[in-house]
Amino acid sequence: MKLLMLLVLLTTCTASPQDLSGKMFTFPLKTNNAHVRLLTSVDSLSAFTVCHRSFTDLKKDHLLFSMATLSNPNAFLTFWDATNKEMEVHIRDRTTDMAGLDYKLNMWHSICTTWDSTAQLVQLWFDGKPLVKKFTTSGTRMQGPFIIILGQEQDSHGGGFDINQSFVGMMSDVHMWDYTLSACEIHNYMDDLNFTPGNVLNWRALEFQTFDRVLVEKEQMTCQ
Ligand SMILES: *[C@@H]1O[C@H](CO)[C@@H](O)[C@H](O)[C@H]1NC(C)=O
Repeated sequence: MKLLMLLVLLTTCTASPQDLSGKMFTFPLKTNNAHVRLLTSVDSLSAFTVCHRSFTDLKKDHLLFSMATLSNPNAFLTFWDATNKEMEVHIRDRTTDMAGLDYKLNMWHSICTTWDSTAQLVQLWFDGKPLVKKFTTSGTRMQGPFIIILGQEQDSHGGGFDINQSFVGMMSDVHMWDYTLSACEIHNYMDDLNFTPGNVLNWRALEFQTFDRVLVEKEQMTCQ
């Protein structure tokens, strides 16, 4: 009975949007199941920006953000390739490598990715700096339903997790917009100034479900 209650507690929490300002998700354990599913009503995208902050001491490969559609498990994925020391951005299963990042362990890193189907460009911003804009795949809209997951990498729509690609650490300030943010807006996000919150995912009104061992905790940046 106790075990059952614990399982219920660990399996799902919430439904209505929560303001996670000043909070973070803690992923304390390497598993093939612990994850957070972020819910959105948006089901079609011709462009987007995704921003998040993360903190880890993983030396191995790991994902940061995984969005799957029925036709593409890696519709959008940011993934650290530890062997080549590159951040991979996958758009519709096509991989673009971003090199030359100072991806230090045990530090918060702010990462934003923009994608635009018309220009067919993808760009990563890393700790305040824009990287090279790169060509990505065909110029059509992405069609949902989208399944967006933190903590595990999807090899199928909502599943196919691999323990060796899981995330261990903390994540915060996850936002997603259905357009590409201007440089100025991205700087405002990175510097924690005033910015328009995401209209696809909004950290200040986030609908999510946690599965297995993931905690919502206060960020440890200040002593308030
Ligand atoms: C994960 O990596 C370990 C160590 O390299 C390996 O032994 C194991 O088979 C891998 N697990 C999976 C599911 O790939």
